[in-house]
Amino acid sequence: MVKTNWFKDAFIYQIYPRSFKDSNGDGIGDIRGIISKLDYLGDLGVNAVWLSPCYKSPNDDNGYDISDYRDIMDEFGTLEDWKEMTDGLHKRGIKLIMDLVVNHTSDEHKWFRESKKSKDNPYRDYYFWRKGRGKDGKKPPNNWISRFGGSVWKYDETTGEFYLHLFSPKQPDLNWDNPKVREEVRDLVKYWLDLGVDGFRCDVITYISKVPGLPNGKLGGDDMFTHGPNIHKYLRELNDGILSKYDCMTVGEAAGVTVEQAILYTGAERRELDTVFQFEQVAANAFFQVVPRKINYLKTKRVFAKWQRGLYQKGWNSLYLENHDQPRCVSRYITDNPDMDNNFRKLSAKMLAVAVYFQQGTPYVYQGQEIGMTNLKFRDENDHSDVMSKNILRLVKKYAPFLKGYAMNALQKVGRDNARSPMQWSADKNAGFSDVEPWLRVNGNYKEINVAEALSDPDSVLNFFKKLIAVRKGNEVVRDGTYSEPPRYENSRDLYVYERELNSKKIIVACNFRGKNIDFDGSVFGSGESEVLLSNYKIEKNPAELRSLRPFECLVLRAE
Ligand code: NOJ
Repeated sequence: MVKTNWFKDAFIYQIYPRSFKDSNGDGIGDIRGIISKLDYLGDLGVNAVWLSPCYKSPNDDNGYDISDYRDIMDEFGTLEDWKEMTDGLHKRGIKLIMDLVVNHTSDEHKWFRESKKSKDNPYRDYYFWRKGRGKDGKKPPNNWISRFGGSVWKYDETTGEFYLHLFSPKQPDLNWDNPKVREEVRDLVKYWLDLGVDGFRCDVITYISKVPGLPNGKLGGDDMFTHGPNIHKYLRELNDGILSKYDCMTVGEAAGVTVEQAILYTGAERRELDTVFQFEQVAANAFFQVVPRKINYLKTKRVFAKWQRGLYQKGWNSLYLENHDQPRCVSRYITDNPDMDNNFRKLSAKMLAVAVYFQQGTPYVYQGQEIGMTNLKFRDENDHSDVMSKNILRLVKKYAPFLKGYAMNALQKVGRDNARSPMQWSADKNAGFSDVEPWLRVNGNYKEINVAEALSDPDSVLNFFKKLIAVRKGNEVVRDGTYSEPPRYENSRDLYVYERELNSKKIIVACNFRGKNIDFDGSVFGSGESEVLLSNYKIEKNPAELRSLRPFECLVLRAE
């Protein structure tokens, strides 16, 4: 088996199945819904899909709590449907990356149901069970804080012990120090690879190794469960044991990863992961996801530059602006005013794509981003469906009710349901997503922002994405070239200008982050021969003669 490193040439489309397309009129997206949109994906030009979890699940966290790793969630269809979808993707030259959620299972998984039963159950050590502290043993065993708020420990009456859950109490953490757990993971990875899967997005993979003894930590225990002592050993074992036998890719969701650590995770000779999602670009604009910060373009640019330079020839980046946990990028980076000017919305959605996708790495576009979808408008707390948002609101109500307005405002900006509202296919009822009222509200702007409209508008964000994907495809300068920024624009808070270079061939990208004209000296494009590969305005003069960039203007130039 030869590894082809196809991930370096992939353009990946993320599907959040619950919100993509409902085929059977229950208000929930499903696999046959995806099948009905395969031609849409083919036309877009992407060559891989990352499918968020579609396994059996009680849906406490919309499928990120798995109760059976080898079967499909009832609401989504059957394994037969899944096979048909996978064949349909492959026929169109699109690979399939499944979500691998193995830091935790659902509390309804057979392993956990057994584990709970008694202290000597064979599955007991599949999870972390500990005695409580204090006289009555009812205090949590350590000070770790759950990613969704509150302690990571839940007391269980059956055996009088606590179990560990870094996420919701319905997502108990697997104990990777138990070799049987690692074998189970290897087997289920093999199961899906044998069914034709081409890779895995490894959910919160940086949390799988905990410091032995589970001691108290700083910052709610982050230092005790992130990049733990055996993380590299476990990943290499998984790679050597199974992943390396298939021409597949892996991308690790790597909360808290630094450039130095990412090199350890993704360096080819390390045999661990192919690439990781870093979160520094998110951290530049929000604390812990839930506390938005004022957008800082300069800081964001510096994060990009640091990762581009840091991983060059040492690892591999993942390029993204959105996913099912992040707000919509035009709302986050440009304006969160739901009545934003439609022309500016289109221009800025295109500009943001150019800012990110000509960097080195594997690009990911999240469903709806390609038509410039925006954040949902939450009317009140009942509009939130996400387990994390609901937990935050519950904790605020209990311990700090005076913060409710602040929390609602923060969730409006960065809450996870923003990106989970149903995909806007048309101006028909429920945005063409479903015949019945969907599980989460449709964004009120679906009559203007939808796929049908975008297909008929030559100037749409969608048509721009198609061009962008085509321009990027097979371009060696974009894939392998160096990254640099002309020094005069490096500190600009308004413009983002960068160059990619390989064997004296150059790609130069210029973006205006602001909704007004900004002075710009086109001579950075050089005086030699050049060609505009992509732009979101009509370019009427030689780019070298430009003296300003228009509101949200972006240009991609090929220069010799
Ligand atoms: C990261 C996933 O992207 C998120 O949606 C989920 O809640 C957590 N991991 C827990 O699985």
